[in-house]
Amino acid sequence: MPDLLYLDTARVGQIAPSAHRALTDYLRLNADQRFPLYFDAFFEDRVEIPESALAEYNGISCWQGLGPLKDKIRRFFSVGDNIDVWFSGRSISLMRLAAEMMFRRCRNIMVPDLTWPSYKELLVRAIPNSSCRITRIKISDRIGNGIAPDELVDLLVQAYAERKCDGLFFPLVSNLGIRLPIRRLVERIRQHDQLRFVVLDIAQAVNHVPIEADKNYFDFAIGGTHKWFRSFLPLGFALSGNPRTCDFVSATVSRWVEKRLIDDPLLRLVHSLEHLDETKFGETVDATPLIACAGALSDANQVSNRVFEKKILQNVREQVDEIFGRCGLSINNSHPDFHSRILTYTSTATRSQKAVRIHHRLEQLGIATSMIGKCLRISIPPFGLSQLQLNHLASAVSD
Ligand SMILES: Cc1ncc(COP(=O)(O)O)c(C=O)c1O
Repeated sequence: MPDLLYLDTARVGQIAPSAHRALTDYLRLNADQRFPLYFDAFFEDRVEIPESALAEYNGISCWQGLGPLKDKIRRFFSVGDNIDVWFSGRSISLMRLAAEMMFRRCRNIMVPDLTWPSYKELLVRAIPNSSCRITRIKISDRIGNGIAPDELVDLLVQAYAERKCDGLFFPLVSNLGIRLPIRRLVERIRQHDQLRFVVLDIAQAVNHVPIEADKNYFDFAIGGTHKWFRSFLPLGFALSGNPRTCDFVSATVSRWVEKRLIDDPLLRLVHSLEHLDETKFGETVDATPLIACAGALSDANQVSNRVFEKKILQNVREQVDEIFGRCGLSINNSHPDFHSRILTYTSTATRSQKAVRIHHRLEQLGIATSMIGKCLRISIPPFGLSQLQLNHLASAVSD
């Protein structure tokens, strides 16, 4: 039987080798050396692991403390220390903070129909308690029918002005793999209209498409390290640093954490370590996702210049489209500039169970994909698919 063909990174990435080594050696170090769950200095910036221990537990050498981890993330995104990095145990905690910030700054937030459902639900539930409105905008059908990115931007700019919006909440890449031209959209809106706060969902974009975090086109970007970054253990993170709003963002995060308006132990642990405030913390927290993240960063840096080579992607995409097209699954006809490494295939109306059946068959043959509603979703690895893997996929689909 061939090796597992893992095409499900959009759900959770397969653990990166360095994250695996970091976690394994961290556990070994704790077990062998009888370190307490987290010894004082370990999560601050003064980790002192003896040379002899480092030689034996080399996987943990990627971990130098919280500050250095944030610096590594900044280097990964090619940004300076004006960019703040926030961590949380769950990315939805950061979304809660994002909602609070949008509601405080904006009166009317534009939200597309491509929004991650639980983030949309969170906004919809919170809106009655605020003085803010949401303007929902339908774009997925237009993208599916082939609209060009420039036309989409024109349409959104016009709707933004007509509906008197003053904030945006958009994914950079949707869970169904649509990559949106948000930077262009923000720059166009700013030419004529007021944009008080922009929140980006980068959960599917990190280590997948360029984020351009140095370009000041968003105020708060929420992602996780467990998908394309491949740290495996769930860890939410956010970036901020737009000079117009960075003070507001850090004041809001501090206030919400200190007043315990947000229930996220990891967010609180990081905050109390950074503010040297042990009195406000009274809970045992699993901080291993931070260590996995430090490990995954080492591998992510090595492949980051390969993560979005359009030509490789287009080539693989055409071959995979052909394979699924042959067995009667309809392929996505969107403009190539919307494409990402996430591909989706749906059954035609008359054969509505086809995609599910193929998904199960692939699973039995060791090919991991996911079903999102009626869509079969495939994530293409950074280095594409070999001919052998394409043949394996083709024979699995056609059986
Ligand atoms: C676009 C998008 N945003 C947000 C999320 C939520 O991410 P998490 O896995 O951190 O809950 C997902 C999850 O798949 C997603 O696809």
